[in-house]
Amino acid sequence: MQTRTLGRHGPLVSALGLGCMGMSDFYGQRDDAESIATIRHALDRGLNLLDTADMYGPFLNEELVGKAIKGRREQAFIATKFGIVRDAADPTKRGICGRPQYVRDACDASLKRLGVDVIDLYYQHRVDPTVPIEDTVGAMASLVQAGKVRHIGLSEASGATLERAFAVHPIAALQSEFSLWTRDPQSNGMLDACRKLGVSLVAYSPLGRGFLTGAIRTADDFEADDYRRGSPRFIGENFARNLRLADQVKSLAADKGCSPAQLALAWVLAQGRDIVAIPGTKRRSRLDENLGALDLQLSAGELAAIDAAFPPDAAAGTRYPEATMRGVNL
Ligand SMILES: NC(=O)c1ccc[n+]([C@@H]2O[C@H](COP(=O)([O-])OP(=O)(O)OC[C@H]3O[C@@H](n4cnc5c(N)ncnc54)[C@H](OP(=O)(O)O)[C@@H]3O)[C@@H](O)[C@H]2O)c1
Repeated sequence: MQTRTLGRHGPLVSALGLGCMGMSDFYGQRDDAESIATIRHALDRGLNLLDTADMYGPFLNEELVGKAIKGRREQAFIATKFGIVRDAADPTKRGICGRPQYVRDACDASLKRLGVDVIDLYYQHRVDPTVPIEDTVGAMASLVQAGKVRHIGLSEASGATLERAFAVHPIAALQSEFSLWTRDPQSNGMLDACRKLGVSLVAYSPLGRGFLTGAIRTADDFEADDYRRGSPRFIGENFARNLRLADQVKSLAADKGCSPAQLALAWVLAQGRDIVAIPGTKRRSRLDENLGALDLQLSAGELAAIDAAFPPDAAAGTRYPEATMRGVNL
């Protein structure tokens, strides 16, 4: 398995991780048996980085990951997150909390659900604008000191916030959406700040929430409660315009002799040795397909052709609805 170092001095993780979110939330029906089999298959194949969060489910995804890694703790590198608080009665309602006591309580609850005594990488899921980042990261640092967390990460934090956080405690990874149709980290200062500090970028939704694979052709491909039905890039005219992007990935992949998913992932991994991608799937067959991206070498000419087909503003529509956009890059 190809590995990459998170942060300047480790830990080593597989270059492709497994995003577990869709197994329990947002992307249609659950199939826990296949999801657990997929996580175990990932470990069999040498993939160790498993990405989850307390708010996925809410809570169900951490429990699922905990079940899947039972008896195999040493093979897994568990990344989970706190900070997005969902209303149990209506999970579409959410807030953000970075208060120190909340951080400590959330960590204890995650450890319990995962059935482990230490979390390998603990992220703040979204920056809380009402709490100084120094206070939140200070609480996360105390979890490292207590032996409950090994490494600290942030998700969707700006370069400036990352610098402030890093001054309190080393940050191993910054997680952000990054893919052919979401190239923001390359232009908004995030990747520059990561490189200045030696923080790895963990690319989430590297397949454009499935869209870049070409498998989604109409909104009817989604189940009734699928989150994507309400997401700007998957709606109306935007959907139709974005289909042209998916077709471009398909054609570039056909030229290369690989699948669209493999091309999209290989492009992300080619953007730097300090980048790790965490595609999500609840199916073993797709996991195997996605791991094939690790064998793909894109030449400078091929990367230039892909870049030309996907300029930074290629996608129609924002990556989140307006209200959710307000919670990113703070
Ligand atoms: N920090 C954050 O705020 C944040 C936000 C979003 C996501 N994440 C993390 O990032 C992970 C990955 O992101 P994501 O799941 O949103 O998006 P993604 O990885 O871009 O795409 C996942 C979707 O693609 C489909 N898929 C996967 N491989 C495929 C293939 N080879 N061919 C066709 N379809 C394929 C999956 O369907 P099937 O499952 O049916 O295969 C799923 O619907 C998540 O699981 C989560 O852990 C973090």
